[in-house]
Amino acid sequence: MVDVILGTQWGDEGKGKLVDNLSSKYDIVARYQGGANAGHTVKVGDNKYILHLIPSGILHPRVTCVIGNGTVVDPITLKSEIEELESRGVAVGKRLKISSAAHVIMPYHRVIDILKESSSGAGKRVKIGTTGRGIGPAYADKYSRTGLRIGDLTDRKVLRDKIRRNLAEKVPYIRHVLGASPLQVRNVLASLGLENFYSDKTLFDEKKLVRFFLALGNYMEGYVENTQLFLNHAIKNGKKILAEGAQGTMLDIDHGTYPFVTSSNPTAGGVCVGLGIPPSSVKKVIGVMKAYTTRVGSGPFPTELKDRTGRHLQEKGHEFGATTGRPRRCGWLDAVLVKKAVAISGITEIAMTKLDVLDELAEIKVAVAYRGERPVYRKFPGWQQDTSSASSFDELPLKARRYIRAVEKLVGTRISIVSVGPGRRQTIRVPRG
Ligand code: GDP
Ligand code: IMO
Ligand code: MG
Repeated sequence: MVDVILGTQWGDEGKGKLVDNLSSKYDIVARYQGGANAGHTVKVGDNKYILHLIPSGILHPRVTCVIGNGTVVDPITLKSEIEELESRGVAVGKRLKISSAAHVIMPYHRVIDILKESSSGAGKRVKIGTTGRGIGPAYADKYSRTGLRIGDLTDRKVLRDKIRRNLAEKVPYIRHVLGASPLQVRNVLASLGLENFYSDKTLFDEKKLVRFFLALGNYMEGYVENTQLFLNHAIKNGKKILAEGAQGTMLDIDHGTYPFVTSSNPTAGGVCVGLGIPPSSVKKVIGVMKAYTTRVGSGPFPTELKDRTGRHLQEKGHEFGATTGRPRRCGWLDAVLVKKAVAISGITEIAMTKLDVLDELAEIKVAVAYRGERPVYRKFPGWQQDTSSASSFDELPLKARRYIRAVEKLVGTRISIVSVGPGRRQTIRVPRG
């Protein structure tokens, strides 16, 4: 049996917190798409963990964590994530499984991602405001059928041939299409701590890349397996699996605000392809929805607030990216957009997060329809009371409960959980209305 937790907006809805909160009920937590562009925050007491690629179930010692075939893995950042967790006393060891079919993010993917987004030499290119983690270029190679997979990293000859063929394409692309000088490439590599791979003559030192990634392949060997098979066995044996989405519905390559999207499918459809499991195994789909909306990077955001209220949400909500540190754009909840997310992913229940961030507002708005491009708002009176210490639905102010019940109706799905703070205990079950 597989349940899913996914984002209904533009990411950063609080998926990490929710996954951690529900993990004790599951045997396995699995990431099915995206890569280290994700930043999932889990707070345990005074300890804060930001997970990028490792599933947010890792803090539960009995949970097995899977990085599925649909993800793109940067082995360099993965290794440091494992090492950081272990140095903080979280035993990763045998609990982590990485799909041999997941694609590898290479240093040239990161360089291309960053150069395409940089202002110098970028000409008229559309700037997405990516996380610079090489996600788009790695998925592009996957679909061009030229990418490297995790399983390729243990065979020196395969690895060398693939790297050679890729460099033959990437180097002229970087030089002549992106128009980057060798110095620029060197600077980008240096900014990533990857200067070692720079070569004056060929931009990237093939030998060093092969040697280094072969070593990373050996390092990961104990974690790598056919996770599709593992997960299907687990389903047959009655194990409970939680699929952890990264990004959000509006960043979906098919269903989001294209081209201002990521390069994968965070929606529920992505779960089956990204883990290699049948649609019939999926039961609950929990959509995580912030009580307002945020977006980091470029692209349309109809309910965005560029005024004092927007700044208040940003400050009170600490709305700065967990991966890049960039300030997140803030605005009102868009029920029209969430309703679309509910339809696309067949969301069966919603977890509303960051309700406490609205505590001080005198008036709260929700977009309930569109007139042309412009949102039509419904107004709600603010409760202007602290909710962060409430431990049950009944302890919430009446106006907050009314807001929750109204939003349930607007998005057409029950809200089963309300989160009133980053801590594990600041999570409230909502009775059926
Ligand atoms: P994710 O990418 O969906 O996992 O979300 P992020 O971790 O990027 O961003 C959510 C941020 O909000 C994190 O800093 C969380 O610790 C924090 N957070 C989660 N739930 C709540 C909540 O209910 N209230 C408040 N104030 N903060 C929350
Ligand atoms: P989590 O899982 C919020 C955004 C980037 C950019 C666009 C494309 O923490 O919710 P990419 O690097 O994926 O090519 O960038 O997508 N983006 C996110 N925004 N949360 C995320 O992940 C994001 N991952 C990517 O800001 O606009
Ligand atoms: Mg995040």
